[in-house]
Amino acid sequence: MPRKKLIAGNWKMNCLSAEGTALAKAVAKQTKETKFDCDFLICPPFTLLGLVKKCLRGSKVALGAQDVHFAEKGAHTGDISPLMLKDLGCTYVIIGHSERRVDHHETNELINKKAVAAHAAGLNTVICIGETEAQRNAGETIKVCQKQISGSVPADADAKNTVIAYEPIWAIGTGKTPTSADVQEVHAAIRAALNKKLGKTIANKMRILYGGSVKPSNAAELLSLPDVDGALIGGASLKADDFIAIAKNATK
Ligand code: PGA
Repeated sequence: MPRKKLIAGNWKMNCLSAEGTALAKAVAKQTKETKFDCDFLICPPFTLLGLVKKCLRGSKVALGAQDVHFAEKGAHTGDISPLMLKDLGCTYVIIGHSERRVDHHETNELINKKAVAAHAAGLNTVICIGETEAQRNAGETIKVCQKQISGSVPADADAKNTVIAYEPIWAIGTGKTPTSADVQEVHAAIRAALNKKLGKTIANKMRILYGGSVKPSNAAELLSLPDVDGALIGGASLKADDFIAIAKNATK
């Protein structure tokens, strides 16, 4: 069974209401106009989830958040629970993005806990991993990714509720990408780590996205790699035309 590709947009901390609405409407419209062979997901900031949900009505684009707390409710000022995301119409949540690992000191242990809570609430997770430039230069990429898989991915993960996103930190927002051979090597190593942790059936079905400076001009090459099952797109997801142009390369 080939894995159906997932084209996911991570809007990060961008867009006010007018911009976000226009962008979501444009994505919804373009995904309806053309026949695509992939699944779509967009992850706006918390503030726009309700509005974007309305814009996506009638389209096949799923809605996701960019982070979640592990508790169901309670005294956690400023945090958002998995059930709150469900309530807003989210079906996905990104967990452990490197910007959260770095800016908010999120550990593999915390990410694992968040993923368990998200799954319990019926949300699917996009669990992010990836090495720093120093780790890449020291030849530690695969070791780092294996450790992140082993620590961040919970035991209840399966191919339905979990997607992995490999995002080399030095490739995010920089215009730099690893070579195709490097991307494929890391994705294959991630699949092997998933195999070790969750078994072969799940590992073979689980989608592993590549993220980090994906754009229309490099999408065909990246999405043609055997273990690349989609893309997590930051900057280029803020332009509907670019996001859609990337998706046009996502065939099975
Ligand atoms: P980028 O971001 O596409 O702007 O490099 C990807 C991400 O951080 O998810």
